[in-house]
This record gives sequence, C-alpha cells and structure tokens, in this order.
Amino acid sequence: MVARPTIPLPTKRILLVEDNDAIREGITQHLQIDNFLVVAARDGVEALRALENFAPDIILSDINMPRMDGIAFYREVRKRQEWVAIPFVFLTADNSPQSIRLGRELGVEDYITKPINHRDLLNTINARLLRSAEVEVAHIGQAYLETVKVLANAIEGRDHYTRGHVDRVTQYALWMAEALNWPEVEIRHLEFGARLHDIGKIIIPDEILNKSDKLTPEEWQLMRQHPMAGAKILEEITHLQNVRPLVLYHHERWDGQGYPEGLRGREIPLGARILAIVDVFDALTTARPYHPARAPQEVLQFIQMNAGKAFDPDLVVVFCEVMEARLQRKK
Ligand SMILES: [Fe+2]
Repeated sequence: MVARPTIPLPTKRILLVEDNDAIREGITQHLQIDNFLVVAARDGVEALRALENFAPDIILSDINMPRMDGIAFYREVRKRQEWVAIPFVFLTADNSPQSIRLGRELGVEDYITKPINHRDLLNTINARLLRSAEVEVAHIGQAYLETVKVLANAIEGRDHYTRGHVDRVTQYALWMAEALNWPEVEIRHLEFGARLHDIGKIIIPDEILNKSDKLTPEEWQLMRQHPMAGAKILEEITHLQNVRPLVLYHHERWDGQGYPEGLRGREIPLGARILAIVDVFDALTTARPYHPARAPQEVLQFIQMNAGKAFDPDLVVVFCEVMEARLQRKK
C-alpha cells in the first residue's frame, strides 16, 4: 500500500524542470490527467523565474540541462528561505553513483530514473507530499508548545518563589506519563497542562503572590480562584480544550475536600490527579516564603500518608516508585 495524501490532489502544484520537449510534455500531460497543476520550465534559469510567481508544493527536476543544470538549480532553491522546505525530486537518466551521491549530500529527497514510469512518479510525488504535510503538522505542534511556554513564563516571571517550578512539575508529570505508558497525544496534553496549571495566577496581585507572611482569608479566597481563572483564559484557545480540565481541577482532592468544585475520586480527571501530586511534591521540596525546602524522601512519605486523602492512592504508588528510582539514579 502506498501512502496517499489526505489533502485533495487538485490543489497540488508541481514545478517540472526538463529540457527534453517530449519528456516534459509527456509528464505534464500525465500529471494534468491526475489533476495536478503543472508549471513547466526548460532549465534552471527558467525555473527560478517561474518560482518568483508560482509556489509549488513539489519540484521535479532533470539533472542534465543547458544553462543551469539540476544540481545548480537545487542549490539556488535551497538558498531562499521561502523555498527551502519545498520537496525536491530529481528525474534523471544519469543514475551514476557519483551523481546520486552528490545529490544525497545536498539533501535531495528522491530520485526517479528515466524512462519514467508514471505510476512510480505518482507514488513518489504522493509520498513526498504526505511527508511534507506531516512535517508541517509537527512544526505546528512545536509552535503550540512554544506559545504555551511563553504563557507559562509570563506567570513564573512574576512569582519570585516558584522559579523553575513549572519546568520541574512538567518533568515529574512526564515521568509519570512514561511510567503509565501513555500515548503520545495524551502525554502532550499532560505536558501542556503541567506548564499551564497556574496560568490563572495572572489575576493575583504581585503583593499577594510574593507575600512572605500568611495570607489573610480574603487573600486565600482570591488565591483559590486561580484554577477557574486559568480555565477561563484557555476557553478561547481551540487547541488547548483538552488541557482545560487539568488546569481547572489541579487543586481537587481525592476525598472531595479540594477546590474549585469539590470533585472526588475518579470524578477528577486523571491528568489533574497527577498534577495534584507532582505540584505538591515540588512545592514541598523547594523553599517557599512560608516553609524551607524539605528532603525528597520526607516529602514522599508525606505524600504516601495522604494517599486516599489528598491524592489518588494508585497514582501515589506509581509516583513513589518513579521518584525513588530517579533519586537512586542521582546518588
Ligand atoms: Fe495551582
């Protein structure tokens, strides 16, 4: 089975560069029958000119051509920022090892040898287009993560006592997901949830956030609103909808005594139950204005004592195993 792009083919655009009239016209005709939009050029110079006004999804190019050959053309294409990601396939009668090695060193994605079998050509084009669609999706994922990091840093920058808290909480949460064999997409949601869990603290004034004395009841009241404020912020962001429950419920407790809704047990989303544990572990193992840093072993004992009270008892077992193993490794 050959992978096919999920995007309808009629929208796909091809730049074909070939000096032999019969071959160029033959390929163009076949590709047009398959609903590709083809712009054809006779050599590298003509192709570069065409690229100024035409953004192809893929370039197919002969190697041996007058004026500017395929290798020189490829080098020119890769010099330009806006063309650098266009998949590039060589069409060549010249399958000598030397030319193929040179092409590979330059990073050419593929070769089709002449005489061209139309089925092979189509399969190669489809595979390349699918690959570049996948790369694009990966880039979008990366862009999401960067946005999330910026959002999370906005809050950490204000809270002097919790620097590094978000990174550590994220790390512990990822170790848990790994231990629980979660699929990639769930891991990503948990990572975003960990990074954004306290984003709602944006509503808390600096003097409360950085206060070293005990908070007054009114200040606590405000502080306890941060999960709801965080969920509200994420309401408008489509790709973070799966992350909202983690932010909203990270202060719920297994026994139903948490906030904002007093959910209990498995009513609390699994990711939020994980965040509750890792959040407290990090808070207690680092120095805060209201308490000094406590030893990890001591905090693990505290968490075990609270299994079934504050925390999901099954997750506590996993967390303690994960952390014991990590602490052993550090010694
Ligand atoms: Fe929080």
